[in-house]
Amino acid sequence: MGEKIPARQEALELLHQYNEGDSLRKHAYAVEAVMRYIARKRGEDEEKWGIIGLIHDLDYEKYPEQHCVKTGEILREHGWPEEYIRAALSHGWGICCDVTPRTDLEKFLYAIDELTGLVVTTALIRPSKSVLDVQVKSVKNKWKDKRFAAGVDRSIIEKGAGMLQIGLEELIDDTIKGMQEAAEAIGLKGNPT
Ligand SMILES: [Fe+2]
Ligand SMILES: [Fe+2]
Repeated sequence: MGEKIPARQEALELLHQYNEGDSLRKHAYAVEAVMRYIARKRGEDEEKWGIIGLIHDLDYEKYPEQHCVKTGEILREHGWPEEYIRAALSHGWGICCDVTPRTDLEKFLYAIDELTGLVVTTALIRPSKSVLDVQVKSVKNKWKDKRFAAGVDRSIIEKGAGMLQIGLEELIDDTIKGMQEAAEAIGLKGNPT
């Protein structure tokens, strides 16, 4: 018997089972959307990239002290392939686990996880409160403003871009475009001007 290929529906049910709060669910949808966008652009497996994005923070609401460790346990209990588990865990490299991002999928997940937070805050200060209005330069302008989206660690994003050897502008552009595709689900459709 071959390894099971997790379906999005199962990933979504797990997400909802373990995350009751709206903000973590929206974060999961945002990361999923960006992973899908980048996978499609690069001719990679969109479904796989998206599903891993969707469940990467699975344990965070219930087990913040054991972040990543519990996600591994839960997914193993459900018979998920090690490839998916490793990828999900690697976003916490140097933060809550020692799984180094190796594949492009893992490096992108690591790089865009925090970046989605910066894009959310950039959207929310716009009059329209819409991600559809966010531009790369608006995000870049806030890069060095430490008080803006203070919880977003820019150095992680920079490290991720470095691993991928892509420019920050491209990474920001991909992240905005991916999140725009999920504007409704992440609550950032706003009222575009
Ligand atoms: Fe996380
Ligand atoms: Fe995350």
